[in-house]
Amino acid sequence: MQKYGVNELRRMFLEFFESKEHLAMKSFSLVPHNDKSLLLINSGMAPLKPYFTGQEIPPRRRVTTCQKCIRTGDIENVGKTARHGTFFEMLGNFSFGDYFKHEAIAWTWEFLTEVVGLDPDRLYPSVYEDDDEAWEIWNKEIGIPEERIFRFGKEDNFWEHGSGPCGPCSEVYYDRGEKYGCGSPDCTVGCECDRYMEIWNNVFTQFDNDGNNNYTELEQKNIDTGMGLERLACIVQDVDSMFDIDTLKSLRDHVCRLAGVEYGNDDAHDVSIRVITDHIRSVTFMISDGIMPSNEGRGYVLRRLLRRACRHGRLLNIPGEFLVELAQTVIDGSKDGYPELEEKKEFIFKVIAKEEDQFNKTIDQGLSILSELETEMAKKGETVLSGDKAFKLYDTYGFPLDLTKEILEEKGLAVDEEGFKASMEVQRKTAREAREVTNYMGADVTVYESIDPSVTTEFVGYENLAYDSKVTVLTTDAELVDALSDGERGTIFVEKTPFYATSGGQEADKGVIRTADGEFVVEDVVKLLGGKFGHIGHVTKGMIKVGDTVTLEVDKDNRALAANNHSATHLLQKALRMVLGNHVEQAGSLNNAERLRFDFTHFSALTEEELKKVEEIVNQEIQNRLPVVVRNMPIEEAKKTGAAALFGEKYGDIVRVVSMGDFSIEFCGGTHVANTGDIMAFKILSETGVAAGVRRIEALTAKGLMNYYEDLEMKLHEAAKLLKATPDHLTEKVTHLLGENKALKSEVESLKSKLAKDAMGDVMDQVTEVKGVKLLATKLEGVDMNGLRDLGDQLKDKLGEGVILLASVNEEKVSLMAMATPGAMEKGAHAGNLIKAIAGCVGGGGGGRPNMAQAGGKNPDGVEAAIAKAREVLEGQIA
Ligand code: ALA
Repeated sequence: MQKYGVNELRRMFLEFFESKEHLAMKSFSLVPHNDKSLLLINSGMAPLKPYFTGQEIPPRRRVTTCQKCIRTGDIENVGKTARHGTFFEMLGNFSFGDYFKHEAIAWTWEFLTEVVGLDPDRLYPSVYEDDDEAWEIWNKEIGIPEERIFRFGKEDNFWEHGSGPCGPCSEVYYDRGEKYGCGSPDCTVGCECDRYMEIWNNVFTQFDNDGNNNYTELEQKNIDTGMGLERLACIVQDVDSMFDIDTLKSLRDHVCRLAGVEYGNDDAHDVSIRVITDHIRSVTFMISDGIMPSNEGRGYVLRRLLRRACRHGRLLNIPGEFLVELAQTVIDGSKDGYPELEEKKEFIFKVIAKEEDQFNKTIDQGLSILSELETEMAKKGETVLSGDKAFKLYDTYGFPLDLTKEILEEKGLAVDEEGFKASMEVQRKTAREAREVTNYMGADVTVYESIDPSVTTEFVGYENLAYDSKVTVLTTDAELVDALSDGERGTIFVEKTPFYATSGGQEADKGVIRTADGEFVVEDVVKLLGGKFGHIGHVTKGMIKVGDTVTLEVDKDNRALAANNHSATHLLQKALRMVLGNHVEQAGSLNNAERLRFDFTHFSALTEEELKKVEEIVNQEIQNRLPVVVRNMPIEEAKKTGAAALFGEKYGDIVRVVSMGDFSIEFCGGTHVANTGDIMAFKILSETGVAAGVRRIEALTAKGLMNYYEDLEMKLHEAAKLLKATPDHLTEKVTHLLGENKALKSEVESLKSKLAKDAMGDVMDQVTEVKGVKLLATKLEGVDMNGLRDLGDQLKDKLGEGVILLASVNEEKVSLMAMATPGAMEKGAHAGNLIKAIAGCVGGGGGGRPNMAQAGGKNPDGVEAAIAKAREVLEGQIA
């Protein structure tokens, strides 16, 4: 068999699948894009998930890649054996709803046996337990005898990693011969020893796992395959382990040279050699993708790997700093497949050197403190290091917890991890509180204050909407950084920017900042002390580094819309002065792409005519198509032009003056239309008071106005549709409906009182006499006070002279109403006193005039008693 090198094998694989109509794509970044289920890309399929689920359309339905991957599940075991590392490359071919099992299996076989030239008799496939289809393909189509095809369960032959696409798989094993075997008579495919090496995994991706082990069948059947490039090289080159293949061997040899030791002579040395060899690969690749050492997430993984490598350098007595040199060897070995390594070389070296230097400054001290702690523990017979001591090592000497743990574990000791977390929490809290301090101007202290004061930004956005410039500073919310990577939020500073920063009432530009492979969306731009422009936003692709030349692109439409509104405020200010008088001064303003707001001094609300007049003047000047001219001139000269300036504003010696024909002239730093005609139209939406003597006008122009009218029109149509009318006839229809409504209401009223009367039946039967005065006292259901009064009037007519008491219960509430006719009053009856005397029975109060009175109560049970009592009270009233 020919002994191909790693770089050759990679090329052979990609070319083979290109010959099978696959699109060969560049390896994706190690930083997952829009995928929170993964910290780092760990397989060829991970960056392709949206193509598998159908959420995104792939550039072709057949794709092949060699993907850089990192798996950190068991960092502490990496190095102990030669079996695996954290970094590896995965070769893969993918079908998104295109070919399925037949082709995938046939091509696996063809590549391994015909292209690479592996001995077919040494290859053993396996299938998922009940996957007869795959079994038949291997047996009938490829011709592998039955006894050489293995069936394995979910643990071995069902592939999934995090949430997302997954499925049963078929793997291929290679028999490396007895020299790698364990010698057991039962040794066969699946044995834990090194003889049968699993090289290629064909996943028949047909399910989607939602992350909670709920599987749904994917609409399309896919193929996802993965073959570890290092493993393949190991077999092809017939060497013991991945640390012996061509590229890794030269790295390993470099480590040995630095340490002055040989590989394979001393187990402890070998562990350290392997740790460094593996970790420096991960470190180099991670930094090339913009991951920066930190105490969280990916950054923490990077820090941990780098510091672990440093410490093993100590164990090997490598003098001084050595990681940059090794990174160079990594780059030399891998740039063939990953040209970005060479491109970002200087940056990678800088980051490694800084982190190594930082750790070196404290590592010796830290190690010696740790060994003192060990001695102390031994004396006291303790086996667990307290959490606060482990935290001190972390906090002061930069020892990641895992490193302390690992060092102690080597000696059979442990760390109180809970205690460590508790100490960490205390520190976080203190740091949070510390952050809440304010600076000498009373503002919150922000990361921006740690920027070198000599950094400034030149604004080139009056003339340019796109500009190339160099990144001078990058920050996250909390610290200055050398790079920002995919998904991270932060602020970018450059030498020159076309982005307008929020000022003078005009909101900042929006847009994007790009590098060759990175993209940052600008959401806001702030102008900071010292003339720095901070572009705030987040990375949506790749990475951005300090020193990068970037292209800054302002969103043109957004800028143009904001200009319409800003220029309109100038016209508005002048129009207000013309209509209201020269006491009008600008008191504040806000313009963005959507609308404008203008605050000004004036002492009363504007009348409709005034508003109309202002609007007319502005629209007239828009139609007059006035040219907008911008001039920079000495302040004294500018003042002579009569330009409006902001009250109390400090201006420099040279000011920017914006004039619109002869109509308006103002001091202004904002961006404007070239001609007032561009504003198209102007409409005031509201005029309100915001403070004593300050009024506010909100208005729209151009597209904002169109949107406003479109929205209104839509609502109008909706309303018309509800009323089964056209918008034209809406008013007519509504007037008609209102009339109809009124008529219906009065009809309801009269029906109600008719109902009440009916409900009472022939009440005249209930009339009694008290000392010669007629009394009608009765109870009704569900009649309100108005109804009772109507009824009372009608009954009075029937009764002639007398006293009426009506009680009604309505939704648990009691209404009492009494009336006395003039004849009854003459004899002493008093409706008001009567009600006052009986209201207590229904838990209420009330009263009124001698002829009419009413009361409310909350106790329906007392109604009978109130009626009975009325009789007694009336008896008392009549002389
Ligand atoms: N995604 C599959 C694996 O990583 C091919 O093994």
